[in-house]
Amino acid sequence: MDAHFGMIGLGTMGRNLVLNIADHGFKVCGYDRSEEQTLRMKEEAGDRPVITVSSSADLIKNLRTPRIIMFLVPAGKIVDAVIDELIPNLEKGDILIDGGNSHFIDTDRRYAALQNSGIHFIGMGVSGGEEGARFGPSMMPGGNEESYKLVQDIFESIAAKADGEPCVAFMGNSAAGHYVKMVHNGIEYAVMQMISEVYGLLRNEGVSNAELHQLFDTWNKGELQSFLIEITADIFKQKDPETGNDLIDMILDKAKQKGTGLWTSQSALELNVPLPTIDTSVSMRYLSALKEERTQFARLYNHQNKKTGVDVEALKKDCRDALHFGFMMAYAQGLELLSVASSIYKYDIPIPTAIKVWRAGCIIRSLMLNDLYKAFSEDATLKNVIASPVFVPLLKEKRPGLVNFLKTAMDAGIPSLAFSAVLNYFDAYVQERLPANLVQAQRDYFGAHTYERIDKEGAFHTDWTPAT
Ligand code: 6PG
Repeated sequence: MDAHFGMIGLGTMGRNLVLNIADHGFKVCGYDRSEEQTLRMKEEAGDRPVITVSSSADLIKNLRTPRIIMFLVPAGKIVDAVIDELIPNLEKGDILIDGGNSHFIDTDRRYAALQNSGIHFIGMGVSGGEEGARFGPSMMPGGNEESYKLVQDIFESIAAKADGEPCVAFMGNSAAGHYVKMVHNGIEYAVMQMISEVYGLLRNEGVSNAELHQLFDTWNKGELQSFLIEITADIFKQKDPETGNDLIDMILDKAKQKGTGLWTSQSALELNVPLPTIDTSVSMRYLSALKEERTQFARLYNHQNKKTGVDVEALKKDCRDALHFGFMMAYAQGLELLSVASSIYKYDIPIPTAIKVWRAGCIIRSLMLNDLYKAFSEDATLKNVIASPVFVPLLKEKRPGLVNFLKTAMDAGIPSLAFSAVLNYFDAYVQERLPANLVQAQRDYFGAHTYERIDKEGAFHTDWTPAT
């Protein structure tokens, strides 16, 4: 068929993207090694301009040139295998797009390897889950701008729209697109963890699922408006068809992960960027998975959460402010990492554009992104939103609510690691004098690592051993 677009990997995301692309007037050819997925694709495509083939060589034969081939396959070795299988049959000018959650180091390597081959390589983050893929995802392509221009019209037509603008744009050199998507996921982890901590405390104070539904629904109409708050409201009203109970109460409290949050923290540690809210959110997923140990230790310590009896209406307001403050800090940490990585890795990421691309279609879409866009577009040198005049008054206003939230959580014995990290991150960042002078003294004491002084330049060492 003379297809405009080839898709390898017809899992749920792949199939939905194919349907989305076909609905926008493009002919698509799909290939998956699994016959079952291929059959499902055929069924779902109906009379749309979609064909399926049984090999990557056939996929190549059915595409018009230059060929546009996207793959949505599990990150890692499979991506390399797909590329290796395609390369011998491709021609100069063809375009490969890795739309999975690939690690940015892999994408940098693949991009470099294809640099002189004449084959374009685009590493593209795709966000929005099944629904996004089907009706409008947010997409973060990187590589080089010339390559992106060759596929821009297709992706702009299928992307989610925010104020009429497509939520897809060039994110920068080499693996920039996958880097931006990775940070998106790190922020996603932090926001999800904070929402769950609010749930944990309110549940402890006796707030019912029905009330939680109402509360999140109300919050979603105000300054916290966001996809994650919206779906949380929905979750609280979902019934379990088997038992008739609220489904949330039937779900085991072990959170899983596929690794992108961990990658964000790893990268931040390597680039010396403090990212404690995302770090703790990853840790809390690990801690949640230790269910057996938690059950055993709860008995060992007879740990019982205490209903504090605080005024629940006041607590709800504190929760709202804590979330607002926490969301600001989650984005602050993620965006600071983006700006540092952009300069160290020479990705040249247009931060305001990345923020714009997150406004619709993706998991971390929220009203707050408008303020973030304002802050970063007004000040091209802005590193952290803590410094932005757009955020200073908001952070001052919301901090007391976060403190009250944490005090109540501590009284109740309810863990709130992500929120503690938020407050301590902020308090440390706005602290002129930290006790790190003592750390320096200790390092110099045991290892002669030297220290700097407050009154003169240079590196100093002291013989600390007390005279006997
Ligand atoms: C998205 C999501 C998606 C991610 C899932 C699962 O933007 O659509 O970020 O890409 O894979 O959210 O992530 P975890 O399994 O690590 O929670």
